[in-house]
Amino acid sequence: MDTIGARAGIGPDSWLDWLDDSRLGLAMRSELWLYPIVEVVHIIGFVLLVGSVVMFDLRVLGLSKDIAVTALARHLLRWSVAALVLIVPAGLMMFTAHPHDFATNNIFILKLCLIATAGINAGLFHVGVYRSVARWNTGIAAPAIARVQAVFSMGLWGTVVLCGRLLAYT
Ligand code: HEM
Repeated sequence: MDTIGARAGIGPDSWLDWLDDSRLGLAMRSELWLYPIVEVVHIIGFVLLVGSVVMFDLRVLGLSKDIAVTALARHLLRWSVAALVLIVPAGLMMFTAHPHDFATNNIFILKLCLIATAGINAGLFHVGVYRSVARWNTGIAAPAIARVQAVFSMGLWGTVVLCGRLLAYT
């Protein structure tokens, strides 16, 4: 897509140009404190999310078996949803600062794919093995598939954090 076509609002890059030229994109680039503040909000959000996920996964792996899995899930799910309210808008705001760079950055694309995979893993856990949680709620080892999904989940979220950090260097 040539520049004139893109600026005219047609073609695959036009939405990136639109974001780049937006008042938000401009403010994110020019206001001294805006980007760092938004980044801190993003960090607080993903610390909450990844912290909650890891606490739950460790419980599924057998730590603190006296805590009911269902009670912990209820407690941590609220924090995870609250965390997303911080993470996603802050992530999108940072994206608007350099939309072309991020959209063509393989690490950024990998990060989004890993987030989607982690979401699917969590969804499959809930519609799958979690339905039998009454049988392993307290004091009993979780089924092998639950433990495999917990390890997979921690690996995925750890790699998402790694990709996020690497964005500053790529
Ligand atoms: C959901 C879980 C997420 C995690 C765990 C995560 C993790 C991270 C980490 C570790 C950083 C680096 C922060 C720093 O070093 O200061 C980062 C930065 C960033 N994230 Fe996320 N992120 C998540 C979601 C998102 C989403 C949904 C988007 C956008 C749609 C996004 C966009 C960005 C952008 C644009 C940066 C800035 C990179 C830079 O300025 O160099 N993130 N993220």
